[in-house]
Amino acid sequence: MKGDYLANDLVRELRIIDLTELEREAARVIGKGAMGYIRGGAGDEWTMRRNTACFDERPILPRVLASLAKPDTKCRILGIDLPFPIIMAPVAAQGLAHVSAEAGTARGTAEAGTIMCVSTYAGMTLEEIALAGNGAPQWFQFYPSKDAGFNRHLLDQALAGGYRAVVLTADATVGGNREADLRNRFVFPLKMANLEQYGSGQGRSIEQIYADAMQQIGPAEVERIAAYTRLPVIVKGIQAPEDALRAIDAGAAGVQVSNHGGRQLDGGPGSFEALPAVARAVNGRVPVIFDSGIRRGQHIFKALASGADVVAIGRPAIYGLALGGWMGVRSVFEFFRHELEMVMQLAGTPDIEAVKKTRLFDPRADAQAGDPA
Ligand code: FNR
Ligand code: LAC
Repeated sequence: MKGDYLANDLVRELRIIDLTELEREAARVIGKGAMGYIRGGAGDEWTMRRNTACFDERPILPRVLASLAKPDTKCRILGIDLPFPIIMAPVAAQGLAHVSAEAGTARGTAEAGTIMCVSTYAGMTLEEIALAGNGAPQWFQFYPSKDAGFNRHLLDQALAGGYRAVVLTADATVGGNREADLRNRFVFPLKMANLEQYGSGQGRSIEQIYADAMQQIGPAEVERIAAYTRLPVIVKGIQAPEDALRAIDAGAAGVQVSNHGGRQLDGGPGSFEALPAVARAVNGRVPVIFDSGIRRGQHIFKALASGADVVAIGRPAIYGLALGGWMGVRSVFEFFRHELEMVMQLAGTPDIEAVKKTRLFDPRADAQAGDPA
C-alpha cells in the first residue's frame, strides 16, 4: 500500500459475540477519518439506523416438534454454489482498515467459501484481487465513468480477471451527505489502483470521485454492459419495485435491494422495508440480493423470508478485516453462519428453501390468529 496511512497488520481469528462490540473494537485500530468514512451514513443517519431497526418489526415465530437436528444453509446463485446465503458487498478503499486491503478480504471470503464483490474504487487492481481470491468466485462492482473508453478498459480488466458478474451500482450518481467526512475533511489517503490512469482517488473526497463518475445511468447502461461483457449484470441500489422491473426489462440478471448502507439518500426507508414489494414484483424471474443493515443471523433469516435469495454484508466484514486481516473476515462470515443455523433450528426450518417459504409473524394479523370462529 502506497501513502503514509498506517493500517493495522494483525492477522488472527476473532471471537465475535456481537457486531456492535466489533465496531467499537475496530474504531480503536482504524484512523479517525477512515472510521468516519467506513461507519458513517448520510445526513442524520436516520435511514442507516432504520436499516437495522426495521428488522425488529417483523418477528420470527418459533416452531417446535420439527424433528430437526442440523439445518442445511447451502444455496446457489447465478450458477455458483454457496455454503450459506451470505456474500461480501462491494466496499471501496479497504486499505483504510488493514494493510492487506482487498487481498485480505479476498482471501477471507474465499476461505469462507463465498462470493466477494469487488469495488471499482478498490485500493488494489482487479487482477491483484482476483489472484488473492485464488479462483474463488468474484463479482465486479462497476461505477461507470464519463469516459466510454475507460469503462471498456475496466470491464476488460474484469473479464481478464475471471469475474463472474458485473454489479452496476445505480444509487450513487452523486455522493450522499456524508457529514462525518465533512467534519473530518476526509480525503482518501491511499491510491485507487483501478482509477490511476483516469484520475486516481488519492487525496480526493468521495464527492470529487463521484463527480467524475457517470450520473446519467439509465436502463441502456444495463444493456451496454451485458452486451459488451456477456456476463450477468446485477443492478444494485434498487428500492422501488418499478425500478426492479425496468432493470429486468433492460436485461438485468439480478437485482440488489440496497440503500448503500444508509450512505446515500437519508430519509428513505430501511432497506428491509423495501424488500417485500420488490421481491413480489420480481416474482422469481431473477435472483434478489439484499443488503444494508444485516447484523444478526435473524436478519438474514428475515431477509430470505421476505424474498431475498442471498444477503450481502459491508461494514461488519471490514471491521473483521481491520481487527484480524483475512482471518478476521472469515470469522465474521462464521459468526453469521453460526447465528443463521441457530435461528433456522429454532424456527424449525431445515433448509434455505424452507426459510424462503416462511411467513414472518405479523403482530397485527397474527395476534388474532387461532381465535375460535
Ligand atoms: C460501501 N458500499 C459500496 N457500494 C458500492 O456499490 N460500491 C462501493 O465502492 C461501495 N463502497 C463502500 C464503502 C464503505 C466504507 C461502505 C460502508 C459501504 C455499500 C455496500 O456495498 C453495501 O451496500 C452496504 O455497506 C451494506 O450495508 P452494511 O452491511 O454496511 O450495513
Ligand atoms: C461509498 C462509495 C464508494 O459508499 O460507494 O463510500
